[in-house]
This record gives sequence, C-alpha cells and structure tokens, in this order.
Amino acid sequence: MKIQGRHYRSIWWDSEGVGVRVINQRLLPFSFETPLLQTVAQVETAIRDMTVRGAPLIGVAAAFGLALALRADVADAALEAAALRLLATRPTAVNLRHAIERALQLLRPTPAALRPVTALDFAVQLADEDVALCQAIGQQGLTLIEAAWAARRHPEVVNILTHCNAGWLATVDWGTALAPIYRAHDQGIPVHVWVDETRPRNQGALLTALELGWHGVPYTVVSDNAGGHLMQRGAVDLCLVGADRVSARGDTANKIGTYLKALAAHDNGVGFHAALPTPTLDWRIADGLADIPIEERAADEVLQVQGPNGAGVLHSVRVAAPGSAAANPAFDVTPARLVTSFITERGIFGPQDLPRLQGLLEQARA
Ligand code: MRU
Repeated sequence: MKIQGRHYRSIWWDSEGVGVRVINQRLLPFSFETPLLQTVAQVETAIRDMTVRGAPLIGVAAAFGLALALRADVADAALEAAALRLLATRPTAVNLRHAIERALQLLRPTPAALRPVTALDFAVQLADEDVALCQAIGQQGLTLIEAAWAARRHPEVVNILTHCNAGWLATVDWGTALAPIYRAHDQGIPVHVWVDETRPRNQGALLTALELGWHGVPYTVVSDNAGGHLMQRGAVDLCLVGADRVSARGDTANKIGTYLKALAAHDNGVGFHAALPTPTLDWRIADGLADIPIEERAADEVLQVQGPNGAGVLHSVRVAAPGSAAANPAFDVTPARLVTSFITERGIFGPQDLPRLQGLLEQARA
C-alpha cells in the first residue's frame, strides 16, 4: 500500500534496528509512527493493546514475536513459554493460534543454535504468504463487485457497506474485505463505501476511512446504527466484511456489530459476504456460537472516546454518565445461514460448500 508515494507493509523486519517494525495503529489517523519492537514482551503488549490489530496481522506479529524470543534464549522452555504468552494475548482470531502452531511444528525439531534464524525466516515467509493470500482474495472478490456493477442497481456506482477495518492495516498488505474494493476501484469500476464507525474503538471511522482515502476510494462514514436504514432504502448493493474465525459450518466471528448488519442484509435481500484467508477457518469447531471464544475488553473503551484536543494531542473524553458500568464484548458470531458467501484465496464458497474447501486444502497439503 502506498502512503504519500512510498510503499508500506503494516509490519516488517528491520535488520539495522534488529527488531520488527509496525505501524502504531493506536495513533492513526492523527499521527504516523513506526515503533521498533525488539523483545517478545513488546510484541505481546503491542498485540494486547492493539498497536497492531486485525486477525491476519496479529498472527504474523506473533511469529515475529517468537523470533525475537529465540534471539534472547534458544532453549525449549523459552520457546514454549513465549508461545503461551503470545497465544494468551487475544483469544478470538484463530490466525494467532494458526501462526504459533505452525512455528512450533517447525521449531521444536530444529537444533537450538539454528532456531533464531529459522524462526525469523518463518515469520518473513508468513508475512509474504499473507500478502499473496490477500492479493488473491482481492482478485476473487472482484468478481462479486463486477457482477454488482453489471446488474447496475444504481446507474452511477456500486455501494458497499463494510464494518470495522479489514483493510491492509489489518493484514500485511491489501486487506481482506477491502482488497476486492481496491481492485475494483483500480479497474475503473465506480465504488462507494459506507464505512461503519465501529464503536467502541472506531476502527471504521479511524482506519478504514484513512485507508480508503489514501487509495482514493470514495467513502462515507456512518454511525453503527445506520446500516439497516441504508439497506431498507436500497442504498447498499452488498456488504463486505472480514472475519476473525469461521467455524467448519460457516459461523463467522467478526467485530462486534457484524451480526446486526447480517440480519439487516438478510431482511433486505442484500448479499452479505465475508472475505478471509483460509487460515481464518477453524476446522476444529463446528458450532461457532457455542465454541468461538469472544474477547471481553476493558469497560473504558465503551465509556470513553479518544481523539485529538485543540492542540492536536490525543486525549480521552467520557461519553457515559459517571459511575456507569459497561460491558465490552469485542466480537460477535454471525450464524452461517446469514452469510451469502466466503471470499477466500481459493475461490468463493457458500456455507454449504465449506466441506469442499476443506477437501481442497487437505489435497494441497498431501
Ligand atoms: O479488534 P480488531 O480491530 O483486531 O478486530 C478486527 C476485525 O474484526 C477485522 O474485521 C478482522 O480481524 C478481519 S481483518 C482482515
């Protein structure tokens, strides 16, 4: 992704500084900083406090975290302890577990002296893989936008509603839900994006709006409650969201509020599509409503909002009555029956086609 003419990924190894560099997403869009993380503890904090966020990106960050842990200590015990610490940072996105399990499989039998370099190579490879997966998702998802444009519900534009940030900031590059939108825009299809603000942390208003603006894609930020109304008015051609974990039968965990958009889409005959790389599928779980762990975050995220004051300094203001209690489930699960399709790097699948996708992946591994 280009920012003012310079190509960036959301995470990269800095061999001069010796550490992993990330874009501090807590400060965007108000300031652009790329801190250097040099210890596993720093990576752990960066994932937990959402300096880095988004399912694919936290998986890649965890892989770099393991590499940093092994630079400090190559012993078995250090490897296992670092893996457990990183796994505990955020529970819902399965990409984190996927990345750590793959790394452990590779590193456990590796001679201790070779572990640091093997772990770093793996993290770099995982980052490159994520870019390729997201690029392919963009290509696959483009067909849905082309079809919407061919159907021309609105003569001038294809209107897409998205929730949270499933763009390049949430991955290593390109994004998942936003990748097809970038492709369509680059091909000259006129697209306009309704961006849900995505309370409580406002990833839509802050990050998705920023990314779309950088890329020149027209967008409008709406309050989280506006989607149903827009769909009733025929102002949404399709919904495109990301995912943090999809169960084997297609139940889809994504940022809190996604489920309500899927209900409104179903009621209004609007296609509801989740874009995800296949490592976001959790084949070990069938019933996502019962078995996908939902992260509970701090009440303060609900009770306060953050933004720059008159002097441009970020600060928080209260938006609830003093003394209010607050609950903050960070994700919800949309039942498979409300999902029209899953856009993956391997193609587009309805929930009923997921067993076929599982077969394709097993074949490729064999
Ligand atoms: O809490 P976040 O900001 O990490 O949540 C991110 C999302 O819910 C995204 O939609 C999801 O990770 C898919 S990102 C490609």
